[in-house]
Order: sequence, then C-alpha cells, then structure tokens
Amino acid sequence: MSGISFDRAAHFYDATRGYTPGSAERIRDGIIEQSGATTETRFLELGVGTGRIALPFIQAGYDFTGVDISQAMMDQLQSKLTALPHKTMYRYELHQTDIVNLPFLDNMFDVIIVVHVLHLVDNWQQAVDEARRVLTPQGQLVIGRDSPEGEEQDDGKTPTPVLVRRKWTEIHEDLEITRPRKRFNWHQNEAFIEYLRTTGAIARDVNIATYERPAISAREMAQRITTRMYSSDWNTPDELHTEATQHLTHWLDNDTSFNPDEAVTITGQFKAMIVHWPV
Ligand SMILES: C[S@@+](CC[C@H](N)C(=O)[O-])C[C@H]1O[C@@H](n2cnc3c(N)ncnc32)[C@H](O)[C@@H]1O
Repeated sequence: MSGISFDRAAHFYDATRGYTPGSAERIRDGIIEQSGATTETRFLELGVGTGRIALPFIQAGYDFTGVDISQAMMDQLQSKLTALPHKTMYRYELHQTDIVNLPFLDNMFDVIIVVHVLHLVDNWQQAVDEARRVLTPQGQLVIGRDSPEGEEQDDGKTPTPVLVRRKWTEIHEDLEITRPRKRFNWHQNEAFIEYLRTTGAIARDVNIATYERPAISAREMAQRITTRMYSSDWNTPDELHTEATQHLTHWLDNDTSFNPDEAVTITGQFKAMIVHWPV
C-alpha cells in the first residue's frame, strides 16, 4: 500500500472538511467548464473519499468512477447515494484500490480528478504515470485543492480558525517537528513541476470556484487539530504532539487579540492545476 488509508477518519471527515450547501456544486460546474466536459465525459476520481467532490457529479448523472484505498471512506459515499432519490439513474462505480496501480485498461477516462491525495502517496510519480496511462490522449488531470482565504497569503483579514492552523505550523517549525504528510501546493512544488516537465506535460493553474465552510471558532479548530483530526498530525510522536498542543493552547488563551469562541465562516477558492499531455 503506497498511501495513507483514511479508515480512521471516515466517521468525522465530512464534519471537518465539508462545504456549505452549493459549494460542491459550484466546484463541479467549475471543473466541467474548465475541462470542457460533456455528458459523454468519463470521469475518474483518485482518492474519492466520502464523495465531497464526487457526489454532485454523480447526482447530475455524469459517468463517474471513484477509487480509494479506504473502503470505510467510500462506504460513507455509498450510504449518501443509497439515501438519495433517482439513484437508478446514476452512473457510477467505486473500487477499493491503490492509485499507484489502477485496475483499468489504458485510455479509459477523459477527466481524472484528484483532490488532497497526492501528498499522502510516497510514489506520487507512479500515481501520475497511472493517471496518464488510463487517460485518453486528449484527457486532462485536474489536481484540485481548497485554498482558504488567508492561507496562501495573509491580507490581514484571515479568519481566526485559519490563524490557528498557521500558528500550529509555526509551532512545529519552532520545535523542529517535521510533518511529512502536510498538504502543499503542487503547482509550487519544484520536484513535481520538474517531473511533469520530463513527461512532456503542459499544466495551467486555474481558479475553479468559491466555496464556504460551516462556521467554526478558533477554539473548535484548535480542538480538531490537537485531537489529530487532520492526517498531517497522525505521524507525530505523542510527546511532540503534546508539547505542540501545550504551545497552541497557551497562545490561544493568552496571546491572541481575537475572541477564540466566536464562530466564523471560512471562505476560500477551490483551485486546480490542470495537466494534459499533448499528442
Ligand atoms: C484527504 S482525503 C481526500 C478525499 C477527497 N478527495 C476529498 O477531497 O474530500 C484523502 C483520501 O485519499 C485516500 N488515499 C490515500 N492514499 C491513497 C492511495 N495510495 N490510493 C488510493 N486512495 C488513497 C484516503 O483513504 C482518503 O480517502
């Protein structure tokens, strides 16, 4: 197995990463527009998880295949689908599999979507090669990401839960704790760009759609982080995690100028690097 199974996160994943109603649909429409997809397009999502991105595609009747190493994550998606009306009209398949070794023939999909997965996969080069193999020659790989307001750059209006995440990163840097599974932006990753170049790929970075997350306070965000609800913290040894937690709690209780208990909505841009290989 080459990645990190999210079995342990299946029951809280949506509560911690979900969007407000309408956001996922805007993201779907943005991906369709940017990729020029039609009702004939065959979609594949790598690391489909609980269907945060997939669900609106499936509901709209698109031909959608999802794969994940975590059956528990896909079971969450399956139960959402089972609860919906019109499900006999849906065209979808879910497969438990590793994205570095896809059980599909060559040239099977027109658009492949991957969101917040590649950083979990040691051999991401192999995952990219597999994506390319199963894409049609004109196919496109959409590497999407949530970009919360204030995360990539601070304009002074950063929502307090995002400030908490930033502080958590700073604390780890100060304590020299490495978090190899921390998410990063592929379009800024030199090794990734260089790898794509060697494969002859062309890539563009685009804004897909705005999204919103349900309101949350800084203290609630700190609680999520310190109870290891995000995979970036799953590998940190207990004693270092405890030390970092003490620093974060102290900062939140003593050093901030904001109300840590005020719930605020986080808005963001769903962005994507869209890759294709000219024939
Ligand atoms: C952060 S979640 C993202 C889920 C979904 N793409 C989303 O944006 O909500 C990462 C998902 O990738 C899956 N995953 C990690 N490594 C994988 C691999 N090598 N092959 C297939 N799935 C993998 C995990 O089980 C998890 O469901």
